[in-house]
Formats: sequence, structure tokens, C-alpha cells
Amino acid sequence: MSTAYLDLPQLVGARGTLRLPGSKSISNRVLLLAALASGETELHDLLVADDTARMLDALRALGVGVEPLGDTVFRVTGVGGVFPVRAADLFLGNAGTAFRPLTAVLALAGGDYRLSGVPRMHERPIGDLVDGLRQLGADIRYLGEAGFPPLAISPPMPGRGEEGRAVVVRGDVSSQFLSGLLMALPLRGVETTVEVVGELISKPYVEITLATMARFGVQIQRDGWRRFTVAAGSTYRSPGVLHVEGDASSASYFLALGAIGGGPLRVEGVGRDSMQGDVRFADALALMGARITCGANWLEASAPDAGSLQGIDLDCNHIPDAAMTLASVALFAEGPTSLRNIASWRVKETDRIAAMATELRKLGARVDVGEDFIRVSPPLAGRALQPAVIDTYDDHRIAMCFSVAALGTPLRINDPQTVAKTFPDYFARFAEVTQAVPVIAIDGTSASGKGTIASRVAEALGWHYLDSGALYRLTALAAARADVGWDDEAGVAAIAAGLDVEFAGTAIRLSGEDVGDAIRNEKISAGASRVAALPGVRAALLFRQRAFRRPPGLVADGRDMGSVVFPDSSTKVFLTATVEMRARRRHKQLIDKGIAASITDLLLDLRERDERDSQRSVAPMQQSTDAELLDTTNLTIEIAVAKVLDWVNKVPKKG
Ligand code: DC
Repeated sequence: MSTAYLDLPQLVGARGTLRLPGSKSISNRVLLLAALASGETELHDLLVADDTARMLDALRALGVGVEPLGDTVFRVTGVGGVFPVRAADLFLGNAGTAFRPLTAVLALAGGDYRLSGVPRMHERPIGDLVDGLRQLGADIRYLGEAGFPPLAISPPMPGRGEEGRAVVVRGDVSSQFLSGLLMALPLRGVETTVEVVGELISKPYVEITLATMARFGVQIQRDGWRRFTVAAGSTYRSPGVLHVEGDASSASYFLALGAIGGGPLRVEGVGRDSMQGDVRFADALALMGARITCGANWLEASAPDAGSLQGIDLDCNHIPDAAMTLASVALFAEGPTSLRNIASWRVKETDRIAAMATELRKLGARVDVGEDFIRVSPPLAGRALQPAVIDTYDDHRIAMCFSVAALGTPLRINDPQTVAKTFPDYFARFAEVTQAVPVIAIDGTSASGKGTIASRVAEALGWHYLDSGALYRLTALAAARADVGWDDEAGVAAIAAGLDVEFAGTAIRLSGEDVGDAIRNEKISAGASRVAALPGVRAALLFRQRAFRRPPGLVADGRDMGSVVFPDSSTKVFLTATVEMRARRRHKQLIDKGIAASITDLLLDLRERDERDSQRSVAPMQQSTDAELLDTTNLTIEIAVAKVLDWVNKVPKKG
């Protein structure tokens, strides 16, 4: 089952060291070449994720021996250029790095194959590659729309194209067409030249292809980026043991975190000696003012020595994937950032130009786009990034890019499991190298003094204060005003989701009107208790409550603050007092307000409420096991506050 969303708290910093997962681009290339080669290859540090799983499945279906030797170590028994299985139906998900090269290789392999993917894969163009392969006699049919997967492949027609020595391919839609062709050509056995028409995009990925082919013994002669020749008799030979570099595109999120969040943040697995073009992302960050250092096998980013990051204008053709991360960094830079020459974004996992623009705007960024560029400006001076719910379009990179924005705002990422495409444990690793805004959660029995103590603790620390009960009260009031019954779960949940509230000092405004007193009367108190028992209402208020978590810290008071809303609270406190003392306090409060009250009635009322609250099936009141218990029966407010502050100071700092 997929997780519907992940809420990221706002972060106050990022630092640490992280070992990267294997490079997707290199992993899928070495798997394919190890399969085609003669001899056994032991692949180390391979990426284990959806995209490589698709390639592994396909290779196994084609009869290739693939044996796991460890978590990221595989032994591939090469087939020497001829797949044992001559007919197969391959499902390749949304893995472009599996689909394109397998199309090329199978088209020249002499069997009957069917290649398909997820619906989005069937919207990603492949016509230029098919046209190129047809020039070599390949028999490929479109099973859906012409120019797009799914495809049916039959053995090349005898006589046709057998003597073809040259093939022309477009280079300006996806470099994977050229990469796929190049990797397949040694299967022909004859000398073949590929000529690229149009400006070749994403050249560094072609470099990875050439370097990987060289590791398997096939040297390509080239004339710049225009012509590539594979010599007659070229065959792949296993290099024996091969180590895969860490993923440079995945590195970009962590380098960005270090550059924005202070750092130093170090990634291990890619460095100065990397064959991946996306390491140049570090140069782009340096241009923005980040401090970058590197070694042969590591990169490290920190915030600028002085001042903030600066917007840049950059041709991103050489770092198409990592450039997406620059769009997120732009949220934290001074001035606009223009990322140009990125038309390929439109044919990736989703139309990334459109998707990035839509989601960046939700955070308050100002964004302009064209066919092949995006320009991102941070919110106007003095404005913070806004909490937002980010959609991810089944695109791993959108999910990872936006996680970086948590350095400026709390946010919700929908369908976060999409990161499994290339980085299954991304968010766990992210949590290890980031520090969230701290939270103190204060709960307690009715009239235990939690509201007063919580707000005083917030004041003493200069932190924000969330009176979560007020949100349930506001919901009850807004529902009553809209004539929605307090038991109408869907109706009240919709009201809760759309509440227009503002907490300004001690004033609480609902749609602009001060309702500080109106939400405290007996009728609304009863309504609050009713609506708070509806799971749909609690769910609707969850992100709204989390959005209060802003630097430098938050003191949150109410039921479930330390368990559900902020389970990672750095300090959790549960306040209590004898029921007699609580009745006396409540009595004094009422008398001070000029309201007649009887201690006996109040005692009865509090006992009933304690019972009801602790029996409630939804968010019952109970002291969580990790909360500090504070009995305030014999304590003044000042002493109780001092005690809480004492606990806060004892919390060890992370990172
Ligand atoms: O703390 P209070 O009395 O203002 O809370 C109003 C109502 O909302 C009360 O019935 C308890 C409920 N509540 C809750 O269920 N969860 C919270 N986090 C806060 C309050």
C-alpha cells in the first residue's frame, strides 16, 4: 500500500555525512552490458530501486543469470551477445534507462519481444530511436500510438539493412536514443557509424555510455558529438569486478540542503573523479555562493561564508536532472534564478517544467516558464515561504526536490513513495542529516493549567504557541455559523479544512472577526468536544497544526500533541493536579470573571470529564509513556514553568 502523504517539519539546519545509493544511469548500463558480455561480472554498490528492478526483471526474463551476493552486490552471467530466451513480454514500468537501451538491443537481437510500461511511459517519445533502428533493418511495430511505446519487436528482416553501415539519429529530444543505439551496435558485428542530427542534449549521459562500454572492452571512435563509429567485431567482455559510483543526481538534494541549511553536508560515493555529469551541480551551487569542497570520492556543501545565496542564470543542458534541484535552491536565493535549455524536462517522468512551476508557486515563489526554461524568484522581500501540500506527479525527483524547501516552511509531500524509483530510503536518510524546528508538547487533564503554563513557556523561550483546543473550538463555531451539524463528520471536516483563522498575539480571528470570547462559551465548548471526537475533523486539522511549527520553536498544547501531531517533540510534558485543586482553580477563574459557580458542581463536572476524556475512542487523554509528568497541585505557575524550562534545557541537541 502506498503512503498517501508525508509531512515534513520546517528545518533549522542540515549537516552530516551520507553514503549515496548507486547511480541509476550507471547501474542500468552496467547491468545490460554485463548481461551481453562474455564472462561473469560481479557488480558492487549497484542501485537497488524500482528502475534497476525493472532492468533486472527484464534480464532474467531474457534468460540472463543474475544472482544477488549481498544487498547491493550481484553476479551477472553474461550471454555473449545472444539472449537464450527468444520471445518475451517485458514490462519496464517508467524506467527510461531500461526501456530505451533494451529496445535497441532487442531490435538487433533476433527474437520476438514486446516492451511496455506504465501509462506515462507510453506518453514518452521513442520514435527517433525506432527510426534509427529501422535504418538498420529492425522490425519494430507500435502497438499504441505511432512514435510511443508499447512496442512489438520481431527479428530484423533478412536482407534489409544487413549491410547498413550508417544510421542517423536525432539528438535533441533524449540522449538516451543515442546511448541505446551505441550500446546495441556491437551486436551487429559489422562496422556501424551513428550520425547525430540536431544539437545533442545531455552530453554527459552519453559520456557515461561511452565510459561504460569502454569498461566492457568496446572503444568507440568519435568525431566530436556528431559521429560515433563502432568497429567490426566489437564484443563486450566482462571486466570481472566493477564498482558503481554513487548517484550524482541524488547527491544534489543533500548538497542543496548543506548550502541552504548551513552544512557542512558531505556525500560519499561521487567526487572529483566521477564520470557522471551531474556532479557539475556542485559548480552551479558554488556559482550561487555555496562553499563547495571535494575529494576523489566525496563532495561537501556549506552555506556562504557571509550573506545569502544568489540567483543565477544558467544553461542547464549538461545537468538536466540535477537542475531541478536548483529550482528549489532558488527559493532561498536573492534575486531570480533562470534555468535555460531544459526542454527535455517536458518528456521525463512528467512534464517537469509545468509541474515544478505549479508546485513552486504553492510555496509563494514567483515563476515564469517557457518551452525550454524556468525562472524562479523567491517570495517578495520579508515574506516567508508558505506551508503547502506538494503533489509529486509520480516523479521521484519532484518529491526529493521539494523536500529541500522544508528549510523554509513546513510542508506536506503527497505520494512520497515515488522516491522508490531511484532512492527508496530517501526520507529516512534525509531525517538523519537535518534538524527540525524543536517542539515542546504539553498535555494534561482539564484545568491542570496547561494553557497558562504552555503560553508562559513559549513566551520565556520566544517561541510560537499553538493552542490546539482553540482550533477545535473555532471549527465548532464555524460549523454552527454555517449551519452544519456537529455530528456531520464530512461537513465539519470540510469546514475545518477551510477555516480562515489568524492568531495575532492574544486575538483569535475567524474570517477577520475577533472570536476570542465567542469560542470560550459553554455551548461552543460542548461543540468543540463533539467535533474533536470525529476522526475526519482531526485529520483535516493535522497539517494546519503542523504548520505552526516555525523557527525558533513551538510550544503546542493539547491532546495528542506529543503522540500524533508532533510525535518527534523534543520535550513532552503531561500536567496534572488533584481534582480538588483543579475544581478550586476553575472556581476562582469563574468568580474572577463575575460568574457564579459552586465547587461541588465543578468537582462533579471535572470527574465526569476526566472519565469521558480518558474513555474516548478517538484521541483519548492519556499520558504518553515518553512524557514527563508534572503534578501542579502544590506548585505556583512560575515554578511549574521553571520546571518545564529545566526539562527543555536538558534535551541534547541533535547534529
Ligand atoms: O483545550 P480546550 O478545552 O480548548 O479544547 C477544546 C476541545 O477540543 C476539548 O473538548 C478537547 C479537544 N481537543 C482535542 O481533542 N485535541 C486537542 N489537541 C486539543 C483539544
